[in-house]
Amino acid sequence: MRVDVLTIFPDYLSPLELSLVGKARQSGLLDLRVHDLREWTTDRHRTVDDTPFGGGAGMVMRPDVWGTALDAVLDGAGPADDVVLLVPTPAGEVFTQRTAEELAGAGRIVIACGRYEGIDARVTEHYAQRPGTTVREVSIGDYVLNGGEVAALVVVEAVARLLPGVVGNPESLVEESHGAAGLLEYPNYTKPAQWRGHEVPEVLTSGHHANIVRWRRDQALRRTAERRPELIERLPADSLDRADRTLLAELGWYVDANGPRPAEIRTAEPHDAAALAELAGLTFPLACPPTLPADAIAEFVATQLDEASFRRYLADPQRIIDVATDRRTGELLGYTMVVLDSPPPTDPSADGAAELSKCYVRPELHGGGIAGRLVARSRDAVARTGAQQLWLGTNVANRRARRFYERCGFAVVGKRRFEVGGLPQDDVVMSTPVTTS
Ligand code: ADE
Repeated sequence: MRVDVLTIFPDYLSPLELSLVGKARQSGLLDLRVHDLREWTTDRHRTVDDTPFGGGAGMVMRPDVWGTALDAVLDGAGPADDVVLLVPTPAGEVFTQRTAEELAGAGRIVIACGRYEGIDARVTEHYAQRPGTTVREVSIGDYVLNGGEVAALVVVEAVARLLPGVVGNPESLVEESHGAAGLLEYPNYTKPAQWRGHEVPEVLTSGHHANIVRWRRDQALRRTAERRPELIERLPADSLDRADRTLLAELGWYVDANGPRPAEIRTAEPHDAAALAELAGLTFPLACPPTLPADAIAEFVATQLDEASFRRYLADPQRIIDVATDRRTGELLGYTMVVLDSPPPTDPSADGAAELSKCYVRPELHGGGIAGRLVARSRDAVARTGAQQLWLGTNVANRRARRFYERCGFAVVGKRRFEVGGLPQDDVVMSTPVTTS
């Protein structure tokens, strides 16, 4: 690849003789040429700038000097039909790993380093019309430097290491931050295993490859969620497996068809009654066996899951209702309801048992980790009341629910009859011990 850099401070670019970029130049993988813009000045003082039209502070670089210089450099290398004229400026598009990848595929790059208040705007306008030339104004971050030279160093290093053969082990490009996974990289460790009392995470010395892969993925997700939450929102939903979703839920996210969204889990308030009734009416029928007549389900919904019922539940000090909502829109995503001092039918004399009477999540969010978080929160709330057991009943036919509760630590302890619209249904009773953590 050929890269030309035009600057009034050629020495600023001398670090590009070092390290991997220096080696790439020596081996011919990168043909990098640095030019002094003042070579193309015509006056005695080698002037490159002038005062801005319209007034204001600072100086602007002259288009005539840049025009002569760019014509010479662009035409000097012979015809190329995919030249990128890159102009570093804090007013540019943000330079990212994607930009670096795109530039690594270009035939030639010419970098025009401005100083002062930048280059006369007609220069980019003019070269954008040159056949085969793409002009890109890029910023390396939201801060202002004295000129484009440092940005040019950044761009050349980021692009050069993507050229085939420049980085010795191309695998090291695969998992790094801002790579294809869209996550920040996990932390790395090397010998010695003990250093000043700090140990290496045990899993990394376990030799268990699958556990190491999972641990690294968890670390990458955690770091990204904490440091760069906007990157979490860009993850495609289909790139996230169940373990990812469970972790994201713990970190305050839920995943819908468009990817992760920030969620909030909180105690329900009286104003939630209508939304709770609506969600209950939607989700309860889905948990019923197909053999149950629709009118029986409808009667149950109308008498026990209507808005008035939820108002009563919300006002009852023996009940704990928690909700998961979309943090931005406030939309209700799921809820749990616990009834305190309610012994299981399998053990009517059990003291201090609480019932997980409801746990429902919008069907399109199933498997997204929200229900698990809600159950964990219910369990904590129950533990704080001093209760020792949390139990629930779920229809025998609802295998999905049973598997979910098993993952939450519940075990089947017996059966019960549960009436829906006057019709007795068979439920399994599941229970889990509750301890204060
Ligand atoms: N020139 C001055 N500040 C800059 C920045 N943040 N990015 C690119 N070029 C610049």
